[in-house]
Amino acid sequence: MKVLIINGSPRQGGNSSRLIEELKKVFDSEGVETEVYSIGTKDIRGCMACNYCATHDGCVFKDDVNTLVQKADGSDGLIVVSPVYYASANGSLISLLDRMFYSSSIDWRMKVGAAFAIARRGGTTATFDELCKYFTINQMPIASGRYWNNGFGRQKGEIEQDAEGLQNARIVARNMVFLIKSIALGKEAFGLPKKEEAAFTHFIR
Ligand SMILES: Cc1cc2nc3c(=O)[nH]c(=O)nc-3n(C[C@H](O)[C@H](O)[C@H](O)COP(=O)(O)O)c2cc1C
Repeated sequence: MKVLIINGSPRQGGNSSRLIEELKKVFDSEGVETEVYSIGTKDIRGCMACNYCATHDGCVFKDDVNTLVQKADGSDGLIVVSPVYYASANGSLISLLDRMFYSSSIDWRMKVGAAFAIARRGGTTATFDELCKYFTINQMPIASGRYWNNGFGRQKGEIEQDAEGLQNARIVARNMVFLIKSIALGKEAFGLPKKEEAAFTHFIR
């Protein structure tokens, strides 16, 4: 069992990192392997809609995105933690996720997703919705918590005072472990749901 955690924050030791520590505590105690990938200040460019990935394996930009897809392939769960920038996930994280999901040909079905938005004050629910859409359009069930998947703080470490946010993170992590184990049993008993040939309609008429 493995969970890949993506930290969108450019700040080392910021509030997103602190929430990830809380997630890791649970996974460590439950014997679940974790790998944390931090975007940091890396220059992650956005998708340029070249469609190279439609005819090749992976994205035309040979950077961390292609490696991350392989890491996701070997994982049972994916958690994305983002600072809120103008009521959205931060730009480099969106660039990374767009390219990661668009260019990959791996089977995302039944990998469990979870997302957290870290903010000083507002924009968390919009960011949470934004992040969860990567999961729901890829047949990924979502591990939920007791209340909002937020963490509050402005300066590094302020999230320490958000006991409810940190507790909710622990609850989500435990629920994710339960879902991953249950899905593994379900796969053994029933196999994955039947796949349909993809219909691809868009609204030009
Ligand atoms: C460019 C930028 C935009 C921001 N926009 C928001 C915002 O819309 N709402 C908010 O509550 N905080 C906003 N913040 C504050 C951060 O979300 C907050 O400091 C958060 O703790 C950062 O997380 P980190 O420590 O993991 O990087 C913004 C910060 C920056 C740098």
